[in-house]
Amino acid sequence: MTDGAPVATAFAWTAENAAEAARIIALYPAGRQASAVMPLLWLAQGQMRDATGSAWLPVPVIEFVARQLGMPYIRAYEVASFYTMYNLKPVGRFHVQVCGTTPCQLRGSDEIMRACKDKGLKKGTITEDGLFTLSEVECLGACANAPMVQINDDNYEDLTHASMTAILEALARGESPAPGSQIGRTASCPEGGPTSLLEMTGAR
Ligand code: FES
Repeated sequence: MTDGAPVATAFAWTAENAAEAARIIALYPAGRQASAVMPLLWLAQGQMRDATGSAWLPVPVIEFVARQLGMPYIRAYEVASFYTMYNLKPVGRFHVQVCGTTPCQLRGSDEIMRACKDKGLKKGTITEDGLFTLSEVECLGACANAPMVQINDDNYEDLTHASMTAILEALARGESPAPGSQIGRTASCPEGGPTSLLEMTGAR
């Protein structure tokens, strides 16, 4: 099952990624190369996105990483199938991962999911133009800026139906909407500025 996306029947690092893989492997003691399996799978998935427009890990790619690390394929596959950061089937150019865990749910993740569906995204499938795949995931560690989504390598936070719609429309136009808080917060600072230690910081 490939959903029409290109399949890698053979895989090899680009020159740049070969150097990066060697750098990563060298971080671990001799005989412990298998410890590099997660960053190498991530690197391979990124190379797949650059080469095919779909960031996923076909079997030949997992086999390639396992061979390089001298580990059985099944052990590399166990890692790839355990973490949702690895895709075992093709995804769209933009993988939209909506957090649906309690803090995001209480802050309106249903509206974010609705914004995605209103733009034609469906869970687990690639849109006809090849641009989007929608997933619902568990906590992505940005609860202070709930509700939020991860799209490829970026987080978009403090979302509303309107801002999520605007982000999807910008991506479809080929633009790169700014990641982070969509209401102007700096990281997870309080909305409206600091609320404590004001005397200490001279803000009052
Ligand atoms: S609950 Fe959504 S980021 Fe933690």
